[in-house]
Amino acid sequence: MRILAIESSCDDTAVAIVEEGHRVLVNLVSSQEKLHAKYGGVVPEVASRRHLEVIYPLIELALKRARLTPDKISAIAVTTHPGLLGSLLVGVNAAKTLGYLWNKPVVGVNHLAGHIYAGWLGKAKIQYPLVSLVTSGGHSEIVLTRKMGEYKYLGGTLDDAAGEAFDKVARHLKLGYPGGPAVALRAMAGRPAKVALPRPMLDEDNFDFSFSGLKTAVTRVVGRRADIAREFQEAIVEVLSEKLFSAAKRYGAKTVLIGGGVAANKRLREEVEKRAQKLGVRVIIPDFEYCTDNAAMIGVAAWYQHDPRRDWWYNTNVAVG
Ligand code: KG4
Ligand code: ZN
Repeated sequence: MRILAIESSCDDTAVAIVEEGHRVLVNLVSSQEKLHAKYGGVVPEVASRRHLEVIYPLIELALKRARLTPDKISAIAVTTHPGLLGSLLVGVNAAKTLGYLWNKPVVGVNHLAGHIYAGWLGKAKIQYPLVSLVTSGGHSEIVLTRKMGEYKYLGGTLDDAAGEAFDKVARHLKLGYPGGPAVALRAMAGRPAKVALPRPMLDEDNFDFSFSGLKTAVTRVVGRRADIAREFQEAIVEVLSEKLFSAAKRYGAKTVLIGGGVAANKRLREEVEKRAQKLGVRVIIPDFEYCTDNAAMIGVAAWYQHDPRRDWWYNTNVAVG
């Protein structure tokens, strides 16, 4: 089974073709980074207009790169929610139009499930229970999966997502956009313990986060930008990984997974690897290109959602959620 997947929930237009839920034939991302950089964040109206311009050429390019014609595609997968409404509508409409034209089933996929399923692209085997941290520009959530397809929300951010905090701090420190990679780069020149920032909610016995106070604390602290960037990154990494691993312990996880744009952060990856080794659990961290928004993860999720006993493939009533 060969799935053509479309992802357009935020500011990246992405198209991929994935075979049997794990073989990525092509994974294309048209980034809008430069377009939004001058605003220091994503402008929804600008994002949906750009999606509209690039989505069909990108689909054509994906088929060409994979040397496939539409009759070789089994189904079309598309992100339906959560995300920016105008952006999602462009992807869903493209998927439904092609489904109609090519006479193929269209499958709706939750974006966060996609970030988790990115972990299925690696070689490591997933053993349950699985505790995942999805951490991106819009979300920071800890999810328990006791069996394939189950997502139990254990906790998440009460205000800003971790990626959003990175973006806002980068704007404050005038480091550029997107904020995550910019802060991480500057943090490399930072010296330890030159400034002190809080670790919000670290001592609370729950799996929730709050990053808005941390962001405000950054605006009050005085010091070199590199030192502030380093301390801010350390604070985020400590809180995210501490909460993730306390959930892993509480629920007896055999596997721990991180996904979403912030999972591309090297310090977070290192810390999660270290703690997983200490706890003796498997760790799954997708390759960089499958952490930030991409369509391959949507294709993988769609493949695993497919239940051959039910003909739900042929339910083309896919709508933006
Ligand atoms: O998953 P994603 O591409 O889009 C959403 O679903 O939101 O995540 C984008 C977010 C942005 O906030 C970006 O600053 C952050 O991920 N990000 C990073 C890094 N790379 C991207 N944050 C920290 N370190 C990074 N290396
Ligand atoms: Zn995302």
